[in-house]
Amino acid sequence: MAARKPYVGGNWKMNLNGREAKELATALADGFTLGDQAEAAVFPAFPYLEKVGQALAAKSSSIKLGAQDFYHQPNGAYTGEVSLAMLKDVGASVVLVGHSERRHVIGEPDTLINDKVLAALETGLEVILCIGEKIDQREADKTDHINTGQLGYGLAGVSEAQMARVTIAYEPVWAIGTGKTATPQDAQDTHKVVRQALSFLYNDDIANAVRLQYGGSCKPSNAADLFAQPDIDGGLIGGASLKADDFLAILQAAADKAGVPA
Ligand code: 13P
Repeated sequence: MAARKPYVGGNWKMNLNGREAKELATALADGFTLGDQAEAAVFPAFPYLEKVGQALAAKSSSIKLGAQDFYHQPNGAYTGEVSLAMLKDVGASVVLVGHSERRHVIGEPDTLINDKVLAALETGLEVILCIGEKIDQREADKTDHINTGQLGYGLAGVSEAQMARVTIAYEPVWAIGTGKTATPQDAQDTHKVVRQALSFLYNDDIANAVRLQYGGSCKPSNAADLFAQPDIDGGLIGGASLKADDFLAILQAAADKAGVPA
């Protein structure tokens, strides 16, 4: 069975100004030389996508440019929204969908998340579908139920062929930006359940090929232990992706896992 290539995303959220975003992209492009062993993507805020893309391209970096959000309609009267064609136009090749802050702060329902997943895949982009339980759901023993539910809703109508462009990010809501990380074993347990659910929804080959990222207070000091788990194929990083040295150290931890058979 082919090994899954570790994959790490840096979700910059609503942080950094234009100068800082460009400087960070340049530092990452200079520092990331592990493109054969690990895949990397960064997700700047909309106004800086083009600038960050240009900074990466200037160094011929393998780091992919991604967007944190979009609207699934092709164009029209959607004030404030950004289309997939616009994102492609500025060089984005990957999008986040279903991030917990969009689900729980902005209020995006599963139906909209599914519409977005389908539209992005139909446009030819790559999707990182984020799922994760809240603390009360975890305490009520609903972790697996919530995560497999969000997975099934999010992927409804996604074809087997399209799954080659899908990554799942498990981000327990209680671990995001809180400094509380899931233990490697807790994260592995949920990743295993997610992979089994993919096997049920699709088949074993697809389940074994899809990369599963962990997100939630992942940092240089805990990345290697998390990535050492058999079903954790990298991470989706918030706070620690805003500092070049930290993000590069996490990428190194992911690259160190490369070559381990899936
Ligand atoms: P933190 O790494 O800041 O906890 O954020 C995780 C996250 O939400 C990435 O999408």
